[in-house]
Amino acid sequence: MTASIAFDVYGTLIDPLGISNALKPLIGKDKAHAFSETWRSKQLEYTFRRGLMRSYEEFPVCTRQALDYCCLQYNSNLDEVSRRDLMKMYQVLPAYDDVEPALRLLQDLDVQLFAFSNGVERDIQSLLENANLTTYFEGIVSVDEVQSFKPDPEVYNHFLKKTRSESKSTWLVSGNPFDILGAISAGWESIWLQRQEKSIFDPWNEQASEIIKSLDELAQIQSFHSHQSGR
Ligand code: 2OP
Repeated sequence: MTASIAFDVYGTLIDPLGISNALKPLIGKDKAHAFSETWRSKQLEYTFRRGLMRSYEEFPVCTRQALDYCCLQYNSNLDEVSRRDLMKMYQVLPAYDDVEPALRLLQDLDVQLFAFSNGVERDIQSLLENANLTTYFEGIVSVDEVQSFKPDPEVYNHFLKKTRSESKSTWLVSGNPFDILGAISAGWESIWLQRQEKSIFDPWNEQASEIIKSLDELAQIQSFHSHQSGR
């Protein structure tokens, strides 16, 4: 069976901290990076909480409410127009530099690639189009289709059903350790992308099948090749 590779989007293909450039003129150079980090971590916290509360709202709602939280925390009285502009920027965030070359190399292997995200499909479509990445993917799987968020097991099972993949031949590539732990728990193979030396993998006595520091290393992963020869 052809292996499926599910790419997480924010933090793996697309850089959510890329928003800090748009924040600089609004809240000042010195605060922009910290603001973008808090924005990202609050956004994720809201997905976790909404998942537990069974109180689903689309990812952009989590993103917007996290932005409003940050404005309070950083005493930034941004007006509604600026907040809406920032939300629009979130749909054209930049891809990391290693993404396109890595996807190109994977084309030569017997693997099918999907984008798999907390984001809603229209936003993922916009991000991939803006970064010229659409052609590399067989499709997009959004958690929105099951109205929950990673790492609810339901969303990993939904991915398998929708893409007709099997857990044993499905790989999650993600820079987000909580996502990797969700995939391991669902019986998938996993590749943790440790984009920064200082990133810590949660000490939960589970290990990703592979750890890479850049997507450049992806096409060399032996399992994709042995899988191919075992066709
Ligand atoms: C994503 O699903 C977890 O934000 C990450 O794209």
